[in-house]
Amino acid sequence: MNAVALPGAADFRLTDLRPTPDTMTSDAFAGLSSSPKRLPSKYFYDARGSELFEAITRLPEYYLTRTEIALMESRMTDIAKAVAPHPHVVEYGSGSGRKTRILLNALVDPIAYTAIEISRTALLSSVQCLGEEFPSIEMLPVCADFTKPVRLPAPTRRAARTLVFFPGSTLGNFSDDEAVALLRSMRATMGDHGNALVGIDLQKDGALIEAAYNDAAGVTAEFTLNLLVRLNREIGSNFILGNFRHRAIYNADAGRIETSLVSKREQIVALGGRTFGFAAGEAMEVECSHKYSTLGFAQLVARAGLRVVNAWNDPLDWFGIRLVAPA
Ligand code: TRP
Repeated sequence: MNAVALPGAADFRLTDLRPTPDTMTSDAFAGLSSSPKRLPSKYFYDARGSELFEAITRLPEYYLTRTEIALMESRMTDIAKAVAPHPHVVEYGSGSGRKTRILLNALVDPIAYTAIEISRTALLSSVQCLGEEFPSIEMLPVCADFTKPVRLPAPTRRAARTLVFFPGSTLGNFSDDEAVALLRSMRATMGDHGNALVGIDLQKDGALIEAAYNDAAGVTAEFTLNLLVRLNREIGSNFILGNFRHRAIYNADAGRIETSLVSKREQIVALGGRTFGFAAGEAMEVECSHKYSTLGFAQLVARAGLRVVNAWNDPLDWFGIRLVAPA
């Protein structure tokens, strides 16, 4: 692990474990060689991707962020009461920090804050702002892929407990088996006496869900296509953007929305010295977002040795926040 002090930046220690272009190339190879083809969605979040995702969270159709924030704001007193004081807060993904701010404001004397975030730009800008706003909380950002085990930086003041914060229904972007693996690693991170606060999008009318991933302004389409822009720039592939279109369909049986990039014609794409053929209409899977039932989520966490200790939903039961602990 290499901790670097950032010249001129606010006073925090960054641990930089960012993936290299080699990892990205081998991930892209593996995905394009599988059937159906796939691209790893964690690479959505370069600087432009993070910016576009921020725009998505403010779209009228994208109910998730707005509903989760309102839920946090209305139930924060209860949530803070359910969580032990003096925690080390560890967030998986940092995003813009809007939800983090609400949480840190309400908790009793948080000792330190660690965001584990793959996008270095998103990480640095969010931690910079949070550091200014919460001078008494030690900022210990980690630039890394949170699906891999990460050794946490130790706060200078000892924290009583670890609280993992995983909002945004990001858990839903993993298959059930991957989600269980991630929950197990969270279980290890929080330790025997810690907790995790997890945001989950709940099952609802499919039309509402599909609208959230097919906005009228086309921001989501630009966001998914930006993945190809990024691969072209960073690993030298030659995807032609106009030859692919965004598609998102709700699969009610599986309880998930499936986002793909569909090839508009027969074509060949070159990537790192290899070529990949696409048929006209062939879909390349880029992301799934699972929508949970109360029971389905409880069963999922049980497979990871965790249990739900508190549950909060918004008044329409569109979005939920769950406090989980070791079983
Ligand atoms: N975690 C977000 C979600 O599942 C990510 C996201 C929003 C997303 N819109 C998207 C991923 C469109 C792929 C395509 O809701």
